[in-house]
Amino acid sequence: MTELPLNISFTGKTVVVTGAGGVLCGAMAKAFAQAGAKVAALDLNQESVEKLAEEAAGEGLLCKGYKANVLDEDEIEEVHQKVLEDFGPCDILINGAGGNSPRATTDNEYHHERKEGQTTFFDLDPKGVDFVFRLNFQGTLLPTQAFAKEMAQRNSGCILNVSSMNAYVPLTKIPAYSGAKAAVSNFTQWLATHFAGTGIRCNAIAPGFLVSNQNRSLLFQEDGSPTPRSSKILAGTPMGRFVEGEELLGAVFFLCDERAASAVTGVVLPVDAGYSAYSGV
Ligand SMILES: NC(=O)c1ccc[n+]([C@@H]2O[C@H](COP(=O)([O-])OP(=O)(O)OC[C@H]3O[C@@H](n4cnc5c(N)ncnc54)[C@H](O)[C@@H]3O)[C@@H](O)[C@H]2O)c1
Repeated sequence: MTELPLNISFTGKTVVVTGAGGVLCGAMAKAFAQAGAKVAALDLNQESVEKLAEEAAGEGLLCKGYKANVLDEDEIEEVHQKVLEDFGPCDILINGAGGNSPRATTDNEYHHERKEGQTTFFDLDPKGVDFVFRLNFQGTLLPTQAFAKEMAQRNSGCILNVSSMNAYVPLTKIPAYSGAKAAVSNFTQWLATHFAGTGIRCNAIAPGFLVSNQNRSLLFQEDGSPTPRSSKILAGTPMGRFVEGEELLGAVFFLCDERAASAVTGVVLPVDAGYSAYSGV
């Protein structure tokens, strides 16, 4: 069991988490279940959400896995109907599915430093760029169209999107992911305004730099010392350290609690050890 950061009960609430087969949103899904919610864990990868549901069941928690591609409207609608039958209308939607693609990533930070054979800006694959925009933006919009319907009818509910540091100022090498997450932050404000009169709140978190199994080798040398990229990140982070996955949970719980955050809508809350506040000087 995770040590929960805030003593908030989500008992009786139906929480839908997309991308729940992944590291961060899997932890969010479990934390909500631990706080009493009925959790629908959605992911493209059925195996990963079934494993999560099994683990949760082993701990006596209510969490069910569903295979759902956030870009497939028909599949989302099918899962929406299943969740309605299993748990009732969605109270809290976490739009966590997202990510980047190597096809939309340059090899170098600066074009003038390119070396023979590297992928430059001019080699980026338009289909890769399209994939990243669709996954992050449409992948947030389409599940919201399905799961916020009952929220609008019931005049209550909460949507939480997952943005990123690169939404504020783009990070080198990943123009599509940066632009797509900027669109997610922008859409968060749009939804908050659009639904303001219905009692639905919409916010986002912007996680800072985390160490994961996928990026560990980019951030640390074999002897455990930081790589040049990682040294730059830490130099740009006032707290001088990476963010731990569990440190997102306090922000998530706060934004999703209808009493604690009753007047909070349209914000993108950085959980970044100060990274977005610091100009570097
Ligand atoms: N890890 C970080 O450092 C970091 C930082 C900032 C923001 N984020 C964002 O946080 C969210 C979760 O990131 P993570 O690090 O846990 O990533 P992850 O890769 O571990 O999880 C992402 C999950 O999304 C699922 N997914 C991908 N495409 C999908 C689709 N079409 N339909 C449904 N599910 C799909 C994947 O199967 C995976 O389980 C993402 O939106 C990511 O962009 C991550």
